[in-house]
Amino acid sequence: MKDPLLVHHRPQWKTHIGFLLAAVGSAIGLGNIWRFPYLCYKNGGGAFLVPYLIALLVVGIPLMILEIGLGHKMRGSAPASFASISKRWEWLGWWQIIFVMFGIVLYYSVIIAWCFNYFAFSFDLAWVQDPGGFFENFLGKTEEITTPFAIGNIQTLILFSLAVIWFLNWIIVFLGVEKGLERANKLFMPLLFFLILILLAWSIRLQGAHQGLQVYLKPNFDKLREPGVWIDAFSQIFFTLSLGFGIIIAYASYLPKKVQVVRDSLVISIVNCAFSFIAGLVVFSVLGYMASELSLPQGEIGNIVKDPISLSFVVFPKTIGMLPAFSRLFGIMFFGCLVIAGLSSSVSILEAFTAGVVDKFHYSRKAVVSVLAISGFLGGVIFTTQAGIIWLDIVDHFLNKYGLVVGGILECILVAWVYRAFKLRQHINHFSLWKLPAFWDYTVKIAIPLVLGTILVNSLIADITKPYGGYPWTAIILIGRDWLLYTLFFAIVVAAHPWKIEPSTRMLSSEA
Ligand code: TRP
Repeated sequence: MKDPLLVHHRPQWKTHIGFLLAAVGSAIGLGNIWRFPYLCYKNGGGAFLVPYLIALLVVGIPLMILEIGLGHKMRGSAPASFASISKRWEWLGWWQIIFVMFGIVLYYSVIIAWCFNYFAFSFDLAWVQDPGGFFENFLGKTEEITTPFAIGNIQTLILFSLAVIWFLNWIIVFLGVEKGLERANKLFMPLLFFLILILLAWSIRLQGAHQGLQVYLKPNFDKLREPGVWIDAFSQIFFTLSLGFGIIIAYASYLPKKVQVVRDSLVISIVNCAFSFIAGLVVFSVLGYMASELSLPQGEIGNIVKDPISLSFVVFPKTIGMLPAFSRLFGIMFFGCLVIAGLSSSVSILEAFTAGVVDKFHYSRKAVVSVLAISGFLGGVIFTTQAGIIWLDIVDHFLNKYGLVVGGILECILVAWVYRAFKLRQHINHFSLWKLPAFWDYTVKIAIPLVLGTILVNSLIADITKPYGGYPWTAIILIGRDWLLYTLFFAIVVAAHPWKIEPSTRMLSSEA
């Protein structure tokens, strides 16, 4: 057989660190800064770290190894990799990248757009009089809009920054793997680490910071009895590590032949989770400062944090306005971090989707990226309307709690049972200095599907007995459920299309 490296020309990361930074860039995103600290607080403070670490060890790291190993072995995007194992499973790869590209990233980019606006507002602390009212006004939230179907008007300021964000997404991916993604992440990641460390040093010295840190880290182990806490931990691990998105598979397909899959997986996962932990220290120090300025008792800190969105866009801005010195700079740095972290994640799905289309249909990469960026922008418009925040909440809930989890279970079944876990382990160990132990096979074969299956059943029960977020049932069915079904339908249609070149010919053999 001809060398697959010659049959299928494929872009490659220029440097190994370039790959690591891009993968870390995808992993570290808005989720680390606004969702993780909030989840910690909501789910029993320090005690949440227990299910979170368990989720990281049981599902996160083993699946990261699976996705990197698979992308490396199959040298293809998620659809091509799954199709190389079995054509009957190709739809799964398409479904993952379709519901992330035409679901998660649509609203995710809108949140980056808000951050971009707030970054600009920081220069004159525009919100300072009344942060809550300012944010509602910014979103155009009114009493009348109670169902997502009364969409109201488009908020032009948000629409404008959404265009800027999609332009940036487009240009980075358009320039290609090495010149676009690798270069952008080599700039973004060090900058992000630098900024968060400055914010950390700054915030933990604020008066009252320790009070906030106590709220963040003081464990309330009773919470561990609630299934909701475990569901949150496992779905956060998927979201934060970009697993089940088809992204890591695509990024790993651009690796050279010799790679350290086990070591790289550990590095990416640990750096990501450490970043979340640090972001939590920053957020809670700042909350502690606020409580002490307003002389709130410690228990009250929690009442200020209602949801992750108001944490970043109301509570945080309010506190920034109260800082004793350089408050503008703090705002600029905080929202700057969010924009950078968000962009380095959103570009990764654009790449994963482009790779999927190019692998199968051989269209020009630049044309695919351009069409995608325009569709992403247009698809995001619904989230810039006055009802945008309701849409965002519903889509976010259903795609994360079901799409990622169901995709993850099926991915494990496909790789561990249909392809066979030990074959992938042998491939990984062939190149890896740190050997993957045999019990990994059982983890992906049995433990992960079981754990995720339990989580899934629990979420289903919760969502069937009570409409999520108290929204009308019609909204939940037409937006939440149907979003999943339509994307599934498109995935099946695209998968049914025949391949021009057999996908399995791209596979890398572990010999030689
Ligand atoms: N891991 C990211 C986070 O924690 C989320 C993310 C990664 C993402 N890639 C993405 C979201 C692509 C949307 C599209 O925030």
